[in-house]
Amino acid sequence: PVEFSLRPRYLSDYIGQSRVKENLKIYIEAAKMRKETLDHVLLYGPPGLGKTTLSHIIANELGVSVRTTAGPAIERPGDLAAILTNLQPGDLLFIDEIHRLNRSVEEVLYPAMEDFALDIVIGKGPSARSVRLDLPPFTLVGATTRAGSLSSPLRDRFGVVSRLEYYTVEELTLIVERAADLLQVGIREEGAAEIASRARGTPRVANRLLKRVRDFVQVQGDGVITGETARDALDRIQVDKLGLDQVDHKLLLSIMQHFRGGPVGLETIAATIGEEAHTVEDVYEPFLMQIGFLQRTPRGRMVTPRCYQHFGVEMPK
Ligand code: ADE
Repeated sequence: PVEFSLRPRYLSDYIGQSRVKENLKIYIEAAKMRKETLDHVLLYGPPGLGKTTLSHIIANELGVSVRTTAGPAIERPGDLAAILTNLQPGDLLFIDEIHRLNRSVEEVLYPAMEDFALDIVIGKGPSARSVRLDLPPFTLVGATTRAGSLSSPLRDRFGVVSRLEYYTVEELTLIVERAADLLQVGIREEGAAEIASRARGTPRVANRLLKRVRDFVQVQGDGVITGETARDALDRIQVDKLGLDQVDHKLLLSIMQHFRGGPVGLETIAATIGEEAHTVEDVYEPFLMQIGFLQRTPRGRMVTPRCYQHFGVEMPK
């Protein structure tokens, strides 16, 4: 058995996000022409849209190595200093969840990004002094689900800021067809479109659904994903026509049935459905807002008339 990645490795294999892709292509080419490092890049948007994938693609296109870490993993300034001093010239450093870096670590990052330098304090008290160490030039690619929670000094140090958008059903259909090809499972266009239409605009979800549908057709069917076999499998794994799963249902139904449609606080909702507040906020809510089922208001979360309609629940007077 072989495990391999469905992630595209070059821009030419990457489907969707065409604006971001075309612009990155220019910046990469310009940097290569000038034999410079690419400016630092900030990628933001909901989870599963390809921020990690894009960072690896940028490294491949530049022909450099990538070092991957995440905001919460860098606890102390020394952790970041160790990473930075071990980079090879031109390398790409990918920091996922960059909004979760703590303040003291962020401060090491500023001169590193701006001047490729590390300021180290030697000694304590009156005799303490600061020395500056040169770092190899590098490109930082930061990823975040919330550009708004980045401090502005950090945000200002990115030369390229790109926002990833939810994918269209047409784009996701192509992504599913490509992945099915790599997974060597037969698929009809209607099968791919059915999976795509329930994938919440998100390639990560599309590929996960594809793998589960593949399980059903290989065990119970003739191994080919058609519109009908995809529908049957998706109904069985309880992903509805809009791509909402059991957690989405629980969340929305609890606001409608226990909180009269809201407003209700994030922490309360999270506790009610047994999920972490930041998971609710980063993973579930963005898509529910995107499809117009949920609103964030200063007084809390509210469901919309459209949500009541979808579930056939009567709105309170
Ligand atoms: N797999 C996951 N995301 C993809 C994308 N944007 N293009 C092609 N394949 C993908």
